[in-house]
Amino acid sequence: MEVFDSPDAARQFVSASRSQGRTVGFVPTMGALHEGHLSLVQSALSCEVAVASIFVNPTQFGPSEDLDKYPRPLTADLEKLKAAGVSAVFVPTKEKMYPEGFSSYVEPPQIGETLEGICRPGHFRGVTTVVLKLLQAVPASHAYFGKKDYQQWRVIEAMVRDLNVGTEIIGCETVRESDGLALSSRNRYLTSDDRDRALLLSETLRNVEAAYRAGEKRTDILQKEMQETLLGQQQASTDLSHEKMQVERTLDALDYAAIVSAEDLTPLTSIDRPAVALIAGTIGTTRLIDNRELRLV
Ligand code: PAF
Repeated sequence: MEVFDSPDAARQFVSASRSQGRTVGFVPTMGALHEGHLSLVQSALSCEVAVASIFVNPTQFGPSEDLDKYPRPLTADLEKLKAAGVSAVFVPTKEKMYPEGFSSYVEPPQIGETLEGICRPGHFRGVTTVVLKLLQAVPASHAYFGKKDYQQWRVIEAMVRDLNVGTEIIGCETVRESDGLALSSRNRYLTSDDRDRALLLSETLRNVEAAYRAGEKRTDILQKEMQETLLGQQQASTDLSHEKMQVERTLDALDYAAIVSAEDLTPLTSIDRPAVALIAGTIGTTRLIDNRELRLV
């Protein structure tokens, strides 16, 4: 497996394969690889050559976010990619990606203005900028993104379309633990109590889909149900044996619990087209997101 730290070396490798008519599948990552990333690699391996990148992109982190503590297990990550059958990995330094004097940024498409765009100002500008830069260094035929970051996938799709980037963007299904928790590099920050409460996200999304399939299509009703499950109604029940109060499991903060159009993430009054339910909230010190597509029934 080749490891490149310069954009030019990575581009030469990829361009050589493409000029021989080979398809190249690309998986951009920030490292700390888990089974979710490896499933993207599996999809990329349907191309003739699979390439990954590892770069913890500083421009997509807000000032109070976890850039400094973001895990960077590089040796283990490279071993996983090699074992998975990746041909090359692009691992640039911060200086290679953002050299002295760097000042050009990609304005994110409109679809990035809502949800995460509101909660994390500047986040998508960092994502679109780095992904365009990565696609310049790795001009792949196909690039694979997890639908766990649903809005990110849609933002990148729109950017690639708007800016005529010749790479096909493919969204891949979220990989979950057996109890439903969506895999995320940030799950490692969760204490065991946090992890238990983190299950609320996937449980709420399963419940909202069940309610929708049972016939409820009004998004105000469904969103209210989601919010009540996630934040609780602070009902206390008496534990008869110990006569002490048990408080419901809840998130510590909810950024949003929304049902929007799956295509362009605009709000819906009723689920009359393919939709997606999305949740973002905080448990302890960890911010988690999850979502579930609601296909027309
Ligand atoms: O999803 C991620 O890991 C990152 O946002 C990405 C797409 C690699 C850009 O830094």
